[in-house]
Amino acid sequence: MNEREPVLSVRNLSKTYMQGKIPVHALTDVSFDVKKGEFISIVGPSGSGKSTLLSMMGLLDKPTSGSVFIDGMEVTKAKEGDAPKIRREKIGFVFQRFNLIPTLTALENVDIAMRFARVSKHKRKERSVELLTQMGLEGRMKHKPSELSGGEQQRVAIARAMSNHPAIILADEPTGEVDTKTRDMIVALLKELCEKGQTILVVTHDMDVAEKTSRRITMRDGKIASDTQQ
Ligand SMILES: Nc1ncnc2c1ncn2[C@@H]1O[C@H](COP(=O)(O)OP(=O)(O)OP(=O)(O)O)[C@@H](O)[C@H]1O
Ligand SMILES: [Mg+2]
Repeated sequence: MNEREPVLSVRNLSKTYMQGKIPVHALTDVSFDVKKGEFISIVGPSGSGKSTLLSMMGLLDKPTSGSVFIDGMEVTKAKEGDAPKIRREKIGFVFQRFNLIPTLTALENVDIAMRFARVSKHKRKERSVELLTQMGLEGRMKHKPSELSGGEQQRVAIARAMSNHPAIILADEPTGEVDTKTRDMIVALLKELCEKGQTILVVTHDMDVAEKTSRRITMRDGKIASDTQQ
């Protein structure tokens, strides 16, 4: 990839859901570019289209019109069957409810994301240990999610999202269910990852979180109401 090219480009993206016979315009003609290493918050009232935007960028759903380019590739043009592979290779997800597999340990929860990407067993182990250590979880590798605090679980989820070296990390309310101290720790961690070159977009209702990002995109009625560096 050309270093000057945006890592993510959203072009004239629209999504209309049909609620019976009534169209719901969840996104209308949204366009923006993201550079490598940017830490972006997406804010706006409930129903303004934040999660819809995230699911279009994350190939979880198809737009009605418009395009998303990741690493210069027009991912919205990909065939249905190719979406899981693109998602695995280009995108890391972190959700509000950590989505860890309850029967697996922290180490196994990170490892499994790479197993789907066909990484060798040795490399998976090495990378899982490296990431969990980076998240400050070296003493928690063998713990199952129920044996971890909310903040620790969320750090495992971040390690898992990072495992396949994704071009972008998409997070939907990643601090929605943790206390403020844990929230600040998670945001500081995300910020540090961005400073090392990771690109992260985080949807949040929490203005204290939005304030710590380097750029804030505000959605209103399915459109970008403002887009400011901070
Ligand atoms: N599958 C769907 N079918 C019909 N309408 C939908 C669907 N998903 C979302 N919508 C509608 O699209 C609009 C945008 O929803 P979206 O989930 O993107 O909002 P949001 O900004 O993430 O809100 P919140 O802050 O509450 O999570 C809303 O009006 C919602 O009701
Ligand atoms: Mg939402």
